[in-house]
Amino acid sequence: MKSFLKDLALEAGSMAMEQRARGLRVEHKSRRDLVTETDRAIEVKLRDRIAERYPEHIVFGEEMGQEGEGSQRWIIDPIDGTGSFVHGQPHFSVSIAYEEKGELQWAAVYAPVFDELFMAQRGGGAELNGEGIEVSACQRLDEAVLGTGFACLRSQLPHNNLPYLNALLPQLQDLRRFGSAALDLAYVACGRLDGFWELNLNLYDVAAGQLIVEEAGGRVSDFDGSKKGIPDRYLASNTVLHEDIRQVLASVHGDQELP
Ligand code: 2AM
Ligand code: CA
Repeated sequence: MKSFLKDLALEAGSMAMEQRARGLRVEHKSRRDLVTETDRAIEVKLRDRIAERYPEHIVFGEEMGQEGEGSQRWIIDPIDGTGSFVHGQPHFSVSIAYEEKGELQWAAVYAPVFDELFMAQRGGGAELNGEGIEVSACQRLDEAVLGTGFACLRSQLPHNNLPYLNALLPQLQDLRRFGSAALDLAYVACGRLDGFWELNLNLYDVAAGQLIVEEAGGRVSDFDGSKKGIPDRYLASNTVLHEDIRQVLASVHGDQELP
């Protein structure tokens, strides 16, 4: 499974690089939500490869959704960070997770521009290009660099990330906004970021990154700390900072019912 997953991620990454070098045709899913032929071509390629190797498995992907039900499922985002991809920026990734009976088992996030492949197996730790990785040891918000994103604004949702940013940013050392949630999570896993939060993500943005964070010693929850990994209110951290960040996020929405 590991070498198959690695091959899938690398193959998808080279398709992204080659097709971007040749020039992209960009379409709009909505006014601010972009998609390219490459997103679709990569998803088709990944689906074909999975179907060939594991005909009984099902696939849930950003571009084509899911057909059927089954306990062995692949969750793929062919290009996470399509905005960065289209704008000639380096921070985009291919995100592939495999789950059994609803539990993530394997994950790969590959950033082809950097040739960085993050992988994890449940119970087996996380790695970057074959070397073990761990979350940071940062203990203080004023020494922490967090990642976030604004998927919510593109969807023009009234409940958005700006109040959360307003509350948290003045308490941090700094903030980064790379544009790929999957890669942000991989960066939390290897200690480049001390945490990451975002609203209105989707399962395929976070599934692979989540297992990588957890296997690197990090923690994920929603803003109330109760449920794990709700893409609508997603918080990942190096574990040590989790409660401090979560309390600030929770103070913003107070007792409001979130959408
Ligand atoms: P994408 O590039 O695959 O669309 C960045 O803020 C993160 O939000 C990325 O993981 C990005 O994934 C996702 N994203 C971008 N636009 C979005 C939208 N309209 N709704 C939900 N998520 C979005
Ligand atoms: Ca995505």
